[in-house]
Amino acid sequence: MVKICGIGAGYVGGPTMAVIALKCPSIEVAVVDISHSRISAWNSKKLPIYEPGLEEVVNQCRGKNLLFSTDVEKHVYEADIIFVSVNTPTKIRGLGAGKAADLTYWESAARMIADVSNSNKIVIEKSTVPVRTAEAIEKILTHNTNSKGIKYQILSNPEFLSEGTAIQDLLNPDRVLIGGNQDPEGLEAIQKLKAIYAHWVPEDRIITTNLWSAELSKLADNAFLAQRISSINAMSALCETTGAEVSQVSLALSKNTKIGPKFLNASVGFGGSCFQKDILNLVYICESNGLTEVANYWKEVIKVNDYQKSRFVHRVVTSMFNTVSGKKIAILGFAFKKDTSDTRKTPAIDVCKGLLGDNACLSIYDPRVTEEQIQKDLSMGDVEWDHPIHLQAVSSTVVKQVNVVGDPYEATRDAHGICILTEWDEFKTIDYERVYDKMEKPAFVFDGRNMLNVDKLREIGFIVYSIGRPL
Ligand code: NAD
Ligand code: UGA
Repeated sequence: MVKICGIGAGYVGGPTMAVIALKCPSIEVAVVDISHSRISAWNSKKLPIYEPGLEEVVNQCRGKNLLFSTDVEKHVYEADIIFVSVNTPTKIRGLGAGKAADLTYWESAARMIADVSNSNKIVIEKSTVPVRTAEAIEKILTHNTNSKGIKYQILSNPEFLSEGTAIQDLLNPDRVLIGGNQDPEGLEAIQKLKAIYAHWVPEDRIITTNLWSAELSKLADNAFLAQRISSINAMSALCETTGAEVSQVSLALSKNTKIGPKFLNASVGFGGSCFQKDILNLVYICESNGLTEVANYWKEVIKVNDYQKSRFVHRVVTSMFNTVSGKKIAILGFAFKKDTSDTRKTPAIDVCKGLLGDNACLSIYDPRVTEEQIQKDLSMGDVEWDHPIHLQAVSSTVVKQVNVVGDPYEATRDAHGICILTEWDEFKTIDYERVYDKMEKPAFVFDGRNMLNVDKLREIGFIVYSIGRPL
């Protein structure tokens, strides 16, 4: 029986390993993590992450061929194939701070693999890493193999799932990418990994490349997706000043088969743990290779995203007579997108901090994000990517101006304005007449996700601002 060990039981490691276990009943999958609380949550009824369909998959396999454990060394020792899905955040201090990927977690996982292994292993980069990371990993893995005679094959198998649709993405991926050394041992390792995915993924969707192409393709993939959002968001600013409507422009673009319909929704800005981090990583690699123009090109994608978030705050404050001081503002949605409880780099953090900076009182409702998480996100200082030395902290007195509530009606009662920051489906079915009646007048709606019916809201009496539409 082939044994797989997945190191890192997070948003990627948990769902990807669970789906491999589901589709390959003959493979034993152990998911390990250094975080005791995460592992005990994976072993409980309340999983540590919310992802539609995940619970069903875990319930089908856990206790059969899927287990979650903190005994990292035991499962690494026993495994034939090791997927490493640890976090690779942006460095916050030292060389490359604010841009380069922090590979501390990866390095410690690799050192541990080298220390405990006693048999040949295939080690798979599932985390998103800088191009040529495999070279460094190989050095770490082989540093003490001489005495043991162990052989490692390193593969790059980046993950392309999106949060909120992770299980569907994993069950039905548009492609699986496997990069490896192009010598006979490397090609054999690629075939072994391919055979695992072939249990459920059609062969023509499994692409094999050399290591560096696979590593770079993942960074390029996220950069291209984020670039589309910044492109349409840049257009949204122009729409607001010219009378064009961004949704109509998106529709027109989407019908061009050379462009296609996806990732053309203008928004308050993209969020999530990866887009900004991976572009900054790309920028750092370009700068390190002397490619200043290329680095500057990708930097603009993030600058436009920052601009979109601050433009939104500016619009809220200027529309409400140039001050929101002491005014209650309802924030509907805090997660970085719908169908996830993840708040990493959510645009809601920057928007809320911007409004708090103008002394607003915030009443926040999100169907999946806990009060504890929201308070933590708003009280923590953030590292500004362009000025990593400067830590932006929000004082605790400001955080006292944040109230997290359990339903949208409570959030909006006596509020002067509503900001829609996540596109949760339930926000479409709120009774906006009831909401309007209980709000201060004039009552404003700032739709950061362009998801509400503007005409209907205006009929009720709201002053409505949405992205990329004339006021
Ligand atoms: P995460 O923070 O949710 O999970 C990482 C886990 O690794 C944590 O639970 C942490 O405790 C564990 N860990 C760290 N060092 C460890 C070690 N030495 N031994 C054992 N466990 C260790 O991160 P994530 O969102 O799952 O992302 C993981 C990687 O996947 C990142 O490189 C990210 O860029 C990439 N990725 C993420 C997504 C996504 O949607 N979140 C999608 C594609 C790729
Ligand atoms: C993204 C990519 O889509 C995945 O392919 C990739 O695997 C993953 O990053 C990763 O490497 O972590 P994810 O961040 O989970 O997935 O979610 P997306 O659906 O891409 O949304 C990212 C952000 O962009 C969200 O804040 C979303 O609201 C925003 N967005 C998305 C827009 O503003 N407009 C759009 O048209 C699409």
